[in-house]
Amino acid sequence: MDKLLISGGRALRGEVRISGAKNAALPLLVSPLLADGVVTIGNVPHLQDVTTILQVLGRMGVTVTMMENNQVEIDARTLTSAVAPYELVRTMRASILVLGPLLARHGEASVSLPGGCAIGSRPVDQHLKALVAMGADIRVENGYVHGKVNGRLKGTRLVFDMVTVGGTENILMAATLAEGTTVIENAAREPEIVNLADILKAMGAKIEGAGTDTITVHGVESLHGCTHDVIPDRIETGSYLCAAAMTGGHVRTTAADPKQLDAVLLKLQEAGAVITTGPDWIDLDMQGRRPKAVSFRTAPHPAFPTDMQAQFMALNTIAEGTSTIAETIFENRFMHVPELCRFGAKVAVDGHTAIVTGVEKLQAAPVMATDLRASMSLVLAGLAAEGDTVIDRLYHMDRGYERLEEKLAGLGAQLRRISARSGS
Ligand code: UD1
Repeated sequence: MDKLLISGGRALRGEVRISGAKNAALPLLVSPLLADGVVTIGNVPHLQDVTTILQVLGRMGVTVTMMENNQVEIDARTLTSAVAPYELVRTMRASILVLGPLLARHGEASVSLPGGCAIGSRPVDQHLKALVAMGADIRVENGYVHGKVNGRLKGTRLVFDMVTVGGTENILMAATLAEGTTVIENAAREPEIVNLADILKAMGAKIEGAGTDTITVHGVESLHGCTHDVIPDRIETGSYLCAAAMTGGHVRTTAADPKQLDAVLLKLQEAGAVITTGPDWIDLDMQGRRPKAVSFRTAPHPAFPTDMQAQFMALNTIAEGTSTIAETIFENRFMHVPELCRFGAKVAVDGHTAIVTGVEKLQAAPVMATDLRASMSLVLAGLAAEGDTVIDRLYHMDRGYERLEEKLAGLGAQLRRISARSGS
């Protein structure tokens, strides 16, 4: 297993180009399952999770062609089997997204129950309940979800019990080819949902209200090929901005979208950062200052994203003052706390709330990544700490951060991957 060695204590400075969003790329790459034509998707990041979803499609007989410039061409007309096997799905929860499109377009699907990050039980009951309400026959047997539809799915009014990003995406895709109109209430409003609705519209789908909590989909008989881009990764953007804030540095993220990051940018300003934005860039200048502690609560978009919670906790560990962090989305998302404490951080957890008392400096330490965003909090702590930090289980990071070492090195960080095989 690869490790990352970081020699910390340097202020990060310079420009970093933001990649396409992992969480938008995954549903976009699945959406061609609905189309009777070639779909070309641009700005696709090179990440382990993207490779996994393309393998899931490849295993079904879908033709996947990797092009230059981060483009992927997908033709699902060659589909031979509507099965998503356990060995692929277990590594990534988002694989469940194939269920809705397969049922809508091919009338049947068998998808292994998902795995993914170990941040709570993360059931898919909302996805299944909605598909049943649309007329699908769903059985869960031997760790697989087996679905069948007699004819087409039927449009209906659905109300999710909680805001679910994946659930909204699955049903949005399924509804495009359903008979009649589907209304999704309590829908997720994340930018990734809007990106998905936009590619579906480019295929000929009729969708209103994406980006609000009520989405209406008028089913059509077929969808065609199109070309569409993945939006910039707001979590990668926020992570590099946190790195600048924690090291007293000055970083500009380019190919980014400031409009997606309101809650995060407000908190960075509250921490003392000077932020300026343009149409596709965000500039954060910490002017050598130590950050001030910021309290927050995670909640569905447009509130503070759970995927930035670990990074902001890292920031708070070296901030002036005490902060309170409430995690309301996932029940087990404080696994980075014991690892941050190895750097000398002072964090106390009480249920879903963490209280962080800032210390002047972190000390470098050997630590272990536990999930994707948690691993970024350890990288941030390593960048801020004096001395050499070694982060084990780097594979979590490779699921979601494209060319991490190269991008950080471009900002002046000193770090190197220690490959398990070569020992160097
Ligand atoms: C997506 C993101 C993930 C982010 C999360 C919340 C992707 C690939 N992943 O995950 O990075 O942290 O949104 O912003 O886009 N729930 C149920 N039943 C369901 C579905 C969800 O109980 O059927 C619960 C989950 O356990 C969780 C909450 O609802 O507590 C939100 O989950 P959801 O929004 O579905 O997260 P994902 O789509 O898996």
